[in-house]
Amino acid sequence: MLVDTKEMFKKAYEGGYAIGAFNVNNMEIIQGIIGGCAEKKSPIIIQVSAGARKYANPIYLRKLIEAAVEEHPEVPIAMHLDHGADADICRQCVDSGFTSVMIDGSHHDFEENVRLTKEVVDYAHSKGVVVEAELGKLEGVEDDVKVAKGEGSYTDPDQAVEFVERTGCDSLAVAIGTSHGAFKFQGDPKLDFERLEEISKRLPKGYPLVLHGASTVIPEFVELCNKYGGDIPGAKGVPEDMISKASKMGVCKVNIDTDLRLAMTAMIRKALQENPSNFDPRKYLGPARDAIKEMVMHKLDILGNVNHL
Ligand code: G3H
Ligand code: 13P
Ligand code: ZN
Repeated sequence: MLVDTKEMFKKAYEGGYAIGAFNVNNMEIIQGIIGGCAEKKSPIIIQVSAGARKYANPIYLRKLIEAAVEEHPEVPIAMHLDHGADADICRQCVDSGFTSVMIDGSHHDFEENVRLTKEVVDYAHSKGVVVEAELGKLEGVEDDVKVAKGEGSYTDPDQAVEFVERTGCDSLAVAIGTSHGAFKFQGDPKLDFERLEEISKRLPKGYPLVLHGASTVIPEFVELCNKYGGDIPGAKGVPEDMISKASKMGVCKVNIDTDLRLAMTAMIRKALQENPSNFDPRKYLGPARDAIKEMVMHKLDILGNVNHL
């Protein structure tokens, strides 16, 4: 069933677990995700970035997500725009049937972020769509925006309260030390849990927070990629115990893209290298789809999001 995120976040907050928000770019990824969620009986957020829309054509992704909804009517599925950069892309997604959009004004100053987010909230709410916003700046690359190492900034708890009050956004992505991509930490992984606790404490009880850049970059898959001809040295993500901990602290949505990319790429590399004479895409995309499903099921265990239909 296609839903917005209100009910799933409410249950997640109360139950001390988080909803997985997985990025999609093609059919195999969508099928792997929905297969994993159906098996684990987990509500889910399927999210589409501007880059994914550019790659696949928005219509194809929307129709594929609709197919997932039709195949598994028992699974609550939110269709979400990831990192909407302006009001225009958010409006397009609202108008085309998305149930949730993110307006990412984190690259603007506070006042402009408030103004832009409020504009999107007013429009989306008038159409029954929920809005995620972002305050604080994550490091890393997302589509065309690159925030260099050292240029990120953590979310200020006082500002978070003012931001939510003034914009009316339904959930808030916070910066506490995570970053996008496969290279999140040079030394030991560290997240600012005190800040997270403070933000959650100051916001109204039950207010859902969002963690971006939350892939674990599971070493097994980095090693598999490298074993079969890849070159991803020094990749490091957020340890799983930190993700579980955040899921019990008001984080209701955890964004995962890199872990899916690594699983998919590892399996495609392996299949191609082990079967050099094969040129049937189904023979390498099939195992990649299975790997996505396994990865999603593992993630749902870590998030505590199992048997919640
Ligand atoms: O936040 C970034 C997501 O991983 C999406 O990445 O913009 O390359 O599709 P993308
Ligand atoms: P990762 O790069 O850690 O998977 O984060 C994805 C994300 O935040 C998408 O918005
Ligand atoms: Zn993100």
